[in-house]
Amino acid sequence: MSSETGASPKSQSSKRTSAPGSPGGTVGLHDAEHWVRLAEAPEEEDADSTYGADVESSTASMSSSILHYRTIHGRTYHSERGNAEYWATNDQQQLEAMDIIHHFLTLVLGERLYLAPLKKDINSILDVGTGTGVWVMDIADEFPGAEVIGTDISPTQPSWVPPNAKFEIEDCTDRWTFAEDSFDYVHMRYLYGSISDWNALFREAFRACKPGGWVESFEASPRMESDDGSVAETSAINEWGKFFIEGGRKIGRPFTIIDEDLQQKGMEAAGFVDVTTWDFKAPIGGWPKDPKLKEMGLYSQAAMEQDYEGFVLYMANMILGWSMEEVRVYCSQLRREMRSGKAHPYCRVRVVYGRKPEAPSN
Ligand SMILES: C[S@@+](CC[C@H](N)C(=O)[O-])C[C@H]1O[C@@H](n2cnc3c(N)ncnc32)[C@H](O)[C@@H]1O
Repeated sequence: MSSETGASPKSQSSKRTSAPGSPGGTVGLHDAEHWVRLAEAPEEEDADSTYGADVESSTASMSSSILHYRTIHGRTYHSERGNAEYWATNDQQQLEAMDIIHHFLTLVLGERLYLAPLKKDINSILDVGTGTGVWVMDIADEFPGAEVIGTDISPTQPSWVPPNAKFEIEDCTDRWTFAEDSFDYVHMRYLYGSISDWNALFREAFRACKPGGWVESFEASPRMESDDGSVAETSAINEWGKFFIEGGRKIGRPFTIIDEDLQQKGMEAAGFVDVTTWDFKAPIGGWPKDPKLKEMGLYSQAAMEQDYEGFVLYMANMILGWSMEEVRVYCSQLRREMRSGKAHPYCRVRVVYGRKPEAPSN
């Protein structure tokens, strides 16, 4: 079924680029030898050893071709599907990371699944790019009177779900198959790096949303930043975001959603009103003193620790032509820096929601 191609799921060239030894070259990323040298450097004393210990601790309409996953260096990716191109693996290790991220993001929203001002009696909800479907199952429990549909290009959702939830295979970069005015609420989370035309995405969401209904988009920056200078320019932590930003440019699917304000612009262009933006710096790692922020940070780090390789392999392979071994060396340096507790990284997250105007009364 799957084949070891060493190329991206879309069979783009993964030719080894002559990456420079230091940033400032063609893609501003360090080469693999740089991370090997760092990995061989003696370990400095752990600034916060307890910190590391905390962390260790329509399926029916699916055709069999969507199970023909492609493989890069032993990790599986979604099968060929129209224009879709998604950069993370879809195997068990990655799905577990996604479930941990779901918990982290729920904490980020103050133990909520959404921010839009939804009425309790809504009866149709759509989650686009649903992943493991965990958000769908949680919202289906919260709105037992609503039918909830989750769509994705990978059939990675469970079959035992609440009676009011179901999953369908659908490429959100194509015209959506749902009739106009179908949903009271459309939710989209973490689609960065998957969408080439964000305005088109919001146009489809607008069409599928009922007049008076809400659309909500939750995105993040791939950069790990710090406010106290603790994320050093030359660190593996700092390098992380560059893989995604450069890779996103290369595949024509940006990760710079927040930098470019694509959510607000796309919603306003589509015709949404009462567009509201909420920004937050979500900690990564257990460094915050505040117990709630610390809990968030421990979950976000746990999600990354669950599968650093599965997040970054596709981009590292595509931009730099790295082998799995080279990716592992970089990830082990990243793990070491994260566990040291010396850096205080966070990533920016942004939720934007807007309402489709009521149809004008005649
Ligand atoms: C980072 S995951 C986020 C999953 C989920 N929204 C969450 O927040 O837990 C992105 C998901 O979008 C899906 N995806 C990527 N491109 C897609 C497309 N063109 N159409 C539908 N889903 C897509 C991927 O398969 C993956 O499950």
